[in-house]
Amino acid sequence: MERGAAAVRAWRDSWRDPARLGPGRRNGRLRRVFRRLLDRLACPACGGRLALAPDERPGCADPVDRGRLICATCAASYPVSAGVPRLLPPGGQAPAAPDVRRAFERQWRHYARLTRVFGKDRAQMRANLVNERMGARIRAPWYRGKDVLDAGCGHGRYLQAFADLGATAVGVDVGEGPLLARVPLDDPRIHVVQGDVLRLPFRDASFDLAFCDGVLHHTPDPERGFRELARVVRPGGAIYVWLYPREGALREALFGGARVVTTRLPGPLLRTLCFAVAPLTAGVRSYSGTRFPEATWGECAQVVHDWLAPRLQSHHTWEEVAGWAAAAGLRDPERLPVPTGIVAWRG
Ligand SMILES: C[S@@+](CC[C@H](N)C(=O)[O-])C[C@H]1O[C@@H](n2cnc3c(N)ncnc32)[C@H](O)[C@@H]1O
Repeated sequence: MERGAAAVRAWRDSWRDPARLGPGRRNGRLRRVFRRLLDRLACPACGGRLALAPDERPGCADPVDRGRLICATCAASYPVSAGVPRLLPPGGQAPAAPDVRRAFERQWRHYARLTRVFGKDRAQMRANLVNERMGARIRAPWYRGKDVLDAGCGHGRYLQAFADLGATAVGVDVGEGPLLARVPLDDPRIHVVQGDVLRLPFRDASFDLAFCDGVLHHTPDPERGFRELARVVRPGGAIYVWLYPREGALREALFGGARVVTTRLPGPLLRTLCFAVAPLTAGVRSYSGTRFPEATWGECAQVVHDWLAPRLQSHHTWEEVAGWAAAAGLRDPERLPVPTGIVAWRG
């Protein structure tokens, strides 16, 4: 009995420890992939160039799988582990941000491998990248040879979709979500970096598209995040952002009140609650359109968790976001068929 329980614990721990996940992290191919990314990385503290230093720990054969990145300007030092540069700003984040990170890590640990995340399977996620949801100018051929940043990539499934469209995809997320979701890091077209969208660890003008779906409203300063996205886009490139829209007073008050309680519940209790109330999606509209019983119980529980768990959540209007785009010097803002969705271009 005890041996059985120990085996289950060992399996569970190996599943939870991102450093142990996935094959192919120690091969030469990944090393070359990482070196290509290196040119685009920047110190999140001062914006300086980063150089790879071999890890001093004995027995660490591959300086890319594990090691350190050192800033040439301010000498700040950042770890690389499990093939992922860990470029969170030194000095920490806003007070509620660690809670947000934990809430999403819990979400991706438990739900990222569902067939449909946010009600969409892989084919539907790809479709979202080539239809009117991306505005009038971005269609499948546009992606070929492009560099795309997926900011707040979470489960990371869009990374694979961007890569399949011919782009090189870089996912950045504040938490371990991409590893917990087993993003295929041995795919040479896909990179993952741990970082904060409010201080993106990339050099100016590094990407043709900065894609940010459902992320900025979970930060303490969405406009600052928007400015960061605009900063890393090249001339001629675009930014795509979707944020939660501001709703009518009743809905805002009801959900706001519920979230005062749910965002303070312990993780396992909240997950149980989300599971219990998942069928209510049959009558309560979600932004992804996930509804019970067309979506499974677990798929509905994921979107409920996404709504009720993160401590930070703000709501916006399209005009507000268009104002951010203008202030960031972007042009041709397009109103997308989803509320508060925008594509804007760097001239
Ligand atoms: C609602 S999920 C969206 C995932 C994905 N973009 C999508 O469209 O399905 C939000 C993600 O943003 C990440 N996130 C939240 N705050 C962040 C920050 N300050 N910097 C980077 N990522 C952040 C969370 O860890 C989470 O994975």
